[in-house]
Amino acid sequence: MKKINIITTIFIILIISCMFSCSPAPGYAQPSLTSAETDDLIYVGFVQVGAESDWRIANTKSMKETFTEVKGYKFEMFDAQQNTQKQITALRDFILKDVDYLVLAPNTEAGWDTVLGEAKEAGIPVIIVDRMIKTNDDSLFTAWVGSDFKQQGYDAVTVLERILEKRGIADQEVNIVTLQGNLGSTAQIGRTEGFAEKLSEHPNWNMLDRQSGDFTQERGQEVMDLFLKTYPDIDVVISENDNMAFGAINAIEAAGKTCGPNGDIIIVSFDGVRAAFEAMIEGKIDACVECNPLHGPRVESIIQALERGEKVEKFVFVKESVFYAEDAASLIDSRDY
Ligand code: AHR
Repeated sequence: MKKINIITTIFIILIISCMFSCSPAPGYAQPSLTSAETDDLIYVGFVQVGAESDWRIANTKSMKETFTEVKGYKFEMFDAQQNTQKQITALRDFILKDVDYLVLAPNTEAGWDTVLGEAKEAGIPVIIVDRMIKTNDDSLFTAWVGSDFKQQGYDAVTVLERILEKRGIADQEVNIVTLQGNLGSTAQIGRTEGFAEKLSEHPNWNMLDRQSGDFTQERGQEVMDLFLKTYPDIDVVISENDNMAFGAINAIEAAGKTCGPNGDIIIVSFDGVRAAFEAMIEGKIDACVECNPLHGPRVESIIQALERGEKVEKFVFVKESVFYAEDAASLIDSRDY
């Protein structure tokens, strides 16, 4: 009988001690992965441009939601605040950390050869996303995925042709200003060049001025304010992203003018983020040329193919569209960003 009591007591003590040692104390997170488990993860170092626009924020979200620990990734991102030099330093840090893959969203096109040569030397595959780099050596990166920015520039011309026709002013003189993105980025170069190329087919379209608003709302507003003070007869604003268009709307309204389909000034923007759809519904933006930021799954499928030892396509262009104010209300609920 005594023996049974001793055994029961030992059993109870064991259960109680297990309750304390097996469950975490309140306020502590469950221990995450062990180092052996972490070693199994695919280590992705992502060098991002910054957080300058709604588009960029959606792009970062897409990457973070894709490269999760649950899906087998160790993901680290560096936000370079639109500074190419900071991006180069961040790439070097990731090379030192011996990541499995480098993902680079380059701020501007020039100056990557040396650091990407270092990545190549270290045997780390580089995937370039969104904008492009300028190099004579394609072996410095494994794959690129992003938009056809020049095509977007052509599309903006087609969109403007349609808007002018609809207003019945296609044959009249039209004064245009352009808010450019940060100079030297593929998004700026492609959109500016694409638009300029087709502009020459319209002798009645006058490009009064082009200046950079750095892809931000604040700078877009400042530059638009300057344009309005310099040029009294602006008919069209081409804004190389939505956030600069939001700034332009503020400047136009502060100057006592209106914009959008029934306004004094036509606005054609690039991106097509949710807030731009709202602005189209409010009648302040005429149209958006789409630039799709949801690159996370696209980069992941490249990495997965490489993990399986497959050859990947060097360049993948995302299919994109254009959106007009009159369709915005029926489309807004289907937008993912
Ligand atoms: O490179 C894509 C561009 O960068 C988007 O148009 C803009 O909003 C972003 O900042």
